[in-house]
Amino acid sequence: MKAVLLVGGMGTRLRPLTYRIPKPLIPVIGKPLIMHVIDSLPKEVDEVIIPIGYKKKSMEEYLVKNPPRRKITLVDEHEPMGTGGAVKNVEDHIDGRFLVINGDSISSLDIAKLIDFHRTKKAFATISLWPVENPTPYGVVDLDVDKRIRRFQEKPKREEAFSNLINAGAYALEREILDYIGKGFVSMEREVFPKVLDRGMYGMEFEGYWIDCGRREDLLRAFWTLMGNDMVHIDRRCVHEGAVVRGPVTARAESVIAGAVIGPRAYISERAVVGPASTVERSVLLEDARVGTRCTIVDSIVDAGVTVPDGARITSHILSNAGPDAE
Ligand code: GDD
Ligand code: MG
Repeated sequence: MKAVLLVGGMGTRLRPLTYRIPKPLIPVIGKPLIMHVIDSLPKEVDEVIIPIGYKKKSMEEYLVKNPPRRKITLVDEHEPMGTGGAVKNVEDHIDGRFLVINGDSISSLDIAKLIDFHRTKKAFATISLWPVENPTPYGVVDLDVDKRIRRFQEKPKREEAFSNLINAGAYALEREILDYIGKGFVSMEREVFPKVLDRGMYGMEFEGYWIDCGRREDLLRAFWTLMGNDMVHIDRRCVHEGAVVRGPVTARAESVIAGAVIGPRAYISERAVVGPASTVERSVLLEDARVGTRCTIVDSIVDAGVTVPDGARITSHILSNAGPDAE
């Protein structure tokens, strides 16, 4: 079975980090976001197809350096085709029932279960569903007792939302759905889903977690969710005199925690340094980041290789040296 991974977005809300690195390659607890998704695919998925335009080169380089166990095919998308258009664009690679996954979230969804559910319901399309408080930035469903979707609406007004159950962005689809996708820019959610409701579209709810990693605070939440509670993963050699570590904290190899306060909630990547009398709380330091002395870093992400000058206070920020022309 093939899976199409949608990663075409520009990740604008994660700038300036996404000037340096495309969102799918942002390391979340040491593994690119997209690899979390790919690794969650069941065995029966023998090929992952990724339509891609923006920053294709960095993706190719990553795959060459870190060859995945599964076949991954990158297909050129010269300009953004929309979520439906991107799928249509790779139709020659799709040979039967297939999956489509939005590559910008991490979740505990059991995709094998989604496929089973789809089979059992003899569905034309099955989408995964997640409950949220405010459904307006998402696709929202009206579900009947048999879990059949009666109506689907993308980004409704608050008062018009059918329910608080939203499209979590993982679909099992019959190949014939491709016939419902026209040429050019097509939105799967706005144009295709509403058209196939009467062919049998179903929704499967799941439990655990689902995090759309579009914004800094969500990306940080992905770290804390995957790290779990109360865990301290830290090599004693990294912790120097006077340091205070409050879990959950992970500090990777060759990082240096000088007499600093780390956590609660901190992820210190390889070779990152936290100087004396500094605090790093609810924050992530990517590789080789250097936090000087007497700094305070809260709810923030410090990009790889960035130096935070002594005494700096960084709150709710993504700190990166990368700008719009970063290669
Ligand atoms: N290849 C390609 N081409 N991928 C695209 C394109 C495109 O033109 N446009 C968007 N994508 C990718 C994004 O990178 C993302 O992984 C996924 O498709 C969904 O697009 P977003 O732009 O992130 O949409 P959204 O977050 O506003 O809404 C979508 O996701 C929600 C859940 O996070 C919809 O599917 C909603 O219905 C859903 O609730
Ligand atoms: Mg999104």
